[in-house]
Amino acid sequence: SEPALTDAYNRHISYVRISVTDRCDLRCTYCMSERQTFLPRENLLSFEELDRLCLFLIEQGVTRLRITGGEPLVRRGILDFLKRLGTQVHKGHLKELTLTTNGTLLAEAAPHLVAAGIRRINVSLDSLDADTFRRITRGGDIKKVLDGIAAAQKVGLKVKLNTVALQQDNRHSLPEMIRFAHANGMDISLIETMPLGEEISGREDQFVSLRDVMADLQSFWDITPLSDTTGGPSRYYHVAETAGRLGLITPLSHNFCDTCNRVRVTCTGQLYMCLGQDDHVDLRAALREDTSNAALSAAMSEALRHKPKAHDFFIGGQAPPTAYTPRRTMSVTGG
Ligand code: GTP
Ligand code: 5AD
Ligand code: SF4
Repeated sequence: SEPALTDAYNRHISYVRISVTDRCDLRCTYCMSERQTFLPRENLLSFEELDRLCLFLIEQGVTRLRITGGEPLVRRGILDFLKRLGTQVHKGHLKELTLTTNGTLLAEAAPHLVAAGIRRINVSLDSLDADTFRRITRGGDIKKVLDGIAAAQKVGLKVKLNTVALQQDNRHSLPEMIRFAHANGMDISLIETMPLGEEISGREDQFVSLRDVMADLQSFWDITPLSDTTGGPSRYYHVAETAGRLGLITPLSHNFCDTCNRVRVTCTGQLYMCLGQDDHVDLRAALREDTSNAALSAAMSEALRHKPKAHDFFIGGQAPPTAYTPRRTMSVTGG
């Protein structure tokens, strides 16, 4: 039968990203401004609401859920939530439950993640140098992240690194990061910095197109495209010299909107059909309106009709009239 969730461009929505908190113990410069404040806790979806929402999404045909933040592991009760949700993996109703984390709390959480049925996680890491890491994250301790990654691998979690390419902060050390990832059995995805959040300065200066980064890398490595996919926006390549997989996430230089399979829910329960566009529907209100999920179903159908053909992000050069910087930050939206 037809998957229940199909949009106006006949794209099937089988993947939902859910931000469980806007809070984070780091403040990456491209993600948050120095003055970023966090939402009052009562604005967040409660765990009861998150439980209901996730079951509803699964009933609607969603087969992959990714939990994000902010930093999901800073929310109290998150591990119990993941374990409840994990029963859906164990029952075969969910193909995959995944997590995107900054890794600082991973050492302790890793065994619980495995118990919850999570098999792979994405860890954000933008530098291997302790001082650069501290500067990018405004005070983070890289040792915690590296220990977290090691602990995760030890309990059998597959780890992918996510590295936002930054012209000044890490462009020159990307080859070293790729070598590190591959030497330690990890995939690594490079990400173009996207314009989210108005108050963030220096984004234009830090932006680097992954086309340029690839040209650098191809000057000394043999890199061939792969047809592999994790169902996400990463396009994967094989690097012969390091014998590992390199992903590119290029919303700016080569968007992947025509094959988009996803929507995202903010920590306050707003469903955004696209990361780079502002249409959204209020699932929190729908959850609170009735217990039969009728309002939720109506909100979902409404949302799907409005999923845009493509995002309106833009950085660098002559801005088209549609150029758009969402006011919400990645930490609220969850990427
Ligand atoms: P897997 O492919 O399942 O490993 O995950 P992923 O790469 O989709 O998820 P992850 O949370 O690791 O996100 C990596 C980057 O991709 C983040 O910067 C996200 O904001 C970005 N991203 C994920 N989905 C989308 C999308 O639909 N549009 C855009 N523009 N960016 C996205
Ligand atoms: N552009 C691109 N990626 C971003 N991330 C956070 N903010 C941005 C941005 N403005 C990344 C994080 C994390 C993932 C969920 O999104 O580094 O790896
Ligand atoms: Fe926290 Fe992730 Fe934003 Fe960095 S990118 S401040 S780790 S939410």
